[in-house]
Amino acid sequence: MKVTPKMLILTNEERRYLIDLAIEARRRAYAPYSKYAVGAALRTKTGKMFTGVNVENAAYPTTMCAERSAVFAAVTAGEHEFEAIAVVTSNGGFPCGSCRQVLAEFGLDTIVLIANTEGELLEETTVFDLLPGAFTPGNLAPE
Ligand code: THU
Repeated sequence: MKVTPKMLILTNEERRYLIDLAIEARRRAYAPYSKYAVGAALRTKTGKMFTGVNVENAAYPTTMCAERSAVFAAVTAGEHEFEAIAVVTSNGGFPCGSCRQVLAEFGLDTIVLIANTEGELLEETTVFDLLPGAFTPGNLAPE
């Protein structure tokens, strides 16, 4: 992970709290088709926490991922600045491309914690590292 001067460093307690929240949320995943439950917990710069789960659908492509569910819950509550997101799966899966793009919209410095259901932190990275060359709001600046 590339550490930049203004980047936030999480304490172990903060990591643990976010991972535990994501584990707890994951129990509510609605994944009857893939059976692959995902839980996410997002902390905003104002210190609020939002969780998300994957919500599958009989019309498969309609499925929503846990990470985007968490981001959309935060945005719905008026929060646009995020510090960190924990993603919990049985095997330490990483966010998909669509979730990386949605996270990139709100900041490339957001820390991404990848953990498993044992609560083990398997990877700590950033949106920047997960989506190099991201298309961001800045790309839409008028010429
Ligand atoms: N899934 C997520 O929730 N997040 C990701 O970043 C990758 C995939 C979900 C979608 C679907 O319900 C299941 O995992 C299998 O793809």
